[in-house]
Amino acid sequence: VSAARYPHVFEPVSLGPVEIKNRFYFSPHGNPYSAGGGPSDAFAYYYAERAAGGCGLLIQALATMPRRDGLGITPYLDEALPSFKATADLVHDDGAKIFGQIHYSRVGNGWRYEPGSTLAPLFGPSNVQIYDDFMVTAEMTLQMIETIVEAHRRSARNLAKAGYDGIEVHCSHAMLLEAFLSPYFNRRTDEYGGSLENRMRLLVECLEAARDGAGPNLAVGMRFNVDEMIPGGLTIADSREILARLAESRLLDFVDLDIALEPNQFEYGMPSYLFPKQVYRPYVEAVRDAVGDVPVLSVLGRVTSVAEAEEALAAGVADLVGATRALMAEPYLVRHALEGHEEDSRTCLHCNICRGRNRGMHGCAINPATGRERRWGAQSFTPAPARRRVVVAGGGPGGLEAARVAALRGHDLTLLERTSTLGGQMRLWASLPGREVFDTTPDWYERQLAKLGVDVRLGFEATAESILALSPEAIVVATGSHYVRTGESGYLALPIPGWDRDFVHTPEEVIENGVRVSGRVLIVDEEGLNTQAGIAELLASGGAEVWLVTRAIEPIANLLTTEEYATVLPTLKRLGVRLETMTHVTEIGDHRVTLSDVFTHEVREVENVEAVVMATCRMPNGRLWHELEGKAPQVFAVGDALAPRSLPEAIHEGQRFARMIGEADAPTRFIEAYTAPIDYSVFARPASTLLDA
Ligand SMILES: Cc1cc2nc3c(=O)[nH]c(=O)nc-3n(C[C@H](O)[C@H](O)[C@H](O)COP(=O)(O)O)c2cc1C
Repeated sequence: VSAARYPHVFEPVSLGPVEIKNRFYFSPHGNPYSAGGGPSDAFAYYYAERAAGGCGLLIQALATMPRRDGLGITPYLDEALPSFKATADLVHDDGAKIFGQIHYSRVGNGWRYEPGSTLAPLFGPSNVQIYDDFMVTAEMTLQMIETIVEAHRRSARNLAKAGYDGIEVHCSHAMLLEAFLSPYFNRRTDEYGGSLENRMRLLVECLEAARDGAGPNLAVGMRFNVDEMIPGGLTIADSREILARLAESRLLDFVDLDIALEPNQFEYGMPSYLFPKQVYRPYVEAVRDAVGDVPVLSVLGRVTSVAEAEEALAAGVADLVGATRALMAEPYLVRHALEGHEEDSRTCLHCNICRGRNRGMHGCAINPATGRERRWGAQSFTPAPARRRVVVAGGGPGGLEAARVAALRGHDLTLLERTSTLGGQMRLWASLPGREVFDTTPDWYERQLAKLGVDVRLGFEATAESILALSPEAIVVATGSHYVRTGESGYLALPIPGWDRDFVHTPEEVIENGVRVSGRVLIVDEEGLNTQAGIAELLASGGAEVWLVTRAIEPIANLLTTEEYATVLPTLKRLGVRLETMTHVTEIGDHRVTLSDVFTHEVREVENVEAVVMATCRMPNGRLWHELEGKAPQVFAVGDALAPRSLPEAIHEGQRFARMIGEADAPTRFIEAYTAPIDYSVFARPASTLLDA
């Protein structure tokens, strides 16, 4: 319908022998959906959902050889072939093309499949210390190099046998082939080191081997780091030369351009919402003409809409534009644009929960179906066996998701919200500097609930009586949490003496009531999250002298794995925020505060304190679910109302419990859900089992 709006995106394109129906691609990313080293059923459905969602090309991150760290989905294993075939078949059913990115990582390889083993060395061209570790890579022998080349041939051959459409050799993110190219990592003096020709040798051999293994019907290309941005590393000029040589030798059907060394520059690899949009774009523009007529793919970084892709394609920046995270959050992004209802697309926050919890959890903060598409995907919203009158108390993320899911399953929904807006704590974060993106999720829910005809009652104080007066058959308590004023925390679950002084404020008072400080303010931080960092930024940019006090060893500790720290810490430092780690506030006197070192217990006094912001921990708002259990056929609590945690838990539980409403033999309360018999169908099975079904 709306293809006309995005003529460039919806114009087919050929990569070598492969025609792709549109120019939006799902870029490769490691995920834990493995079953014994091959694709699991969850893996196949995860990709099939994005194919159904309209994406033209899906590129999967696969290991060239077995890895032992859960990211090890590899076509090297002949026994995984049926599962790769099942995956390819599912994706092809929806008209998308599927490529395997085969990578040999310098990280994460070890003695294979031996639980509890010591660490095998990581391989590299030379002995170089790993950026985030004390370990040093092992210098590869010529025989090891040959093994890697043969692994490319074998993995490519197996993917071709499984019906894949292309191979992307990984030469970015400081993976092995990039390390050989890079004068920074490669200090060899043999035929694989020194001159550019020598440093390119392994890449060329792997590309040739992949092409040989893949045969004539598959596209073969590479992902490539345009600028290593490190002293002595590859520069744009080097990249132009490398790309020109490869283009001339006709070794590439496409090239997928980005930047970022892993782990040195993870903040570029997965730029958070605090990073500029399309941060790769100038780098791609700087080398684009060097590749001649070889088609260029690029995610550009933080693309969240088809309109952004259209603009970049029209400007000639690339031939295909794509995304990882935007499609993790919204599998139907492309189809919604094609059909003209983009307002139905969730907008990725780039909060990097997908990255922060990659090891073990993965998934998406705002889309709990991500990774569990077979059970929770778009096809799963069938009517519940019995239609129920449902009351959801609380319009934060958990309540919004519960109301949406229950309404989609045909129930009769009333959502009660105490304040005058929906969104709960997301609206609070959104009002902190640079964090406006957090408004997009509640905005999306507002649109969805309106479409679903949910009866939303704002300014409604939910009590046990007012809820029961609505005669609900199911109740979801999602009333959220608030910061405690007393300063109690996990470090010491006791009030901090002096907590009741009039210059002690809660974060809500700062954010909502506009409390501002001009002098010295101490933020007592036991969470290490955006509340504390954002308030520090807010007050410091207003002229206050801010001390961020935490007993943790690192400041804003929970923003480290999400890469938010990479922007937040420089901001805090530039604003002159004093980062007091390993420090506990033991007493608040008359505008003087006593600090204690958590290891030596040495005590210091801070004078002239104008204000203290207690941001230690949150407690549930009320005990509604305790009061209501047993008073309606089904009563559940979700998110912070149950136990204060974070955004993904709230949204996940909103969906999880809403799905139980009106089901036969469903739990009637939390503990029954918690102790329900294990549903073994949730465990990973090889994707090949889908072929039997
Ligand atoms: C959880 C996660 C894992 C990733 N793993 C890989 C990988 O294995 N190989 C790769 O080339 N890129 C990987 N990436 C990078 C993405 O392909 C993409 O370049 C990056 O997320 C920026 O694009 P986006 O802003 O659209 O998400 C990963 C990204 C994420 C979020």
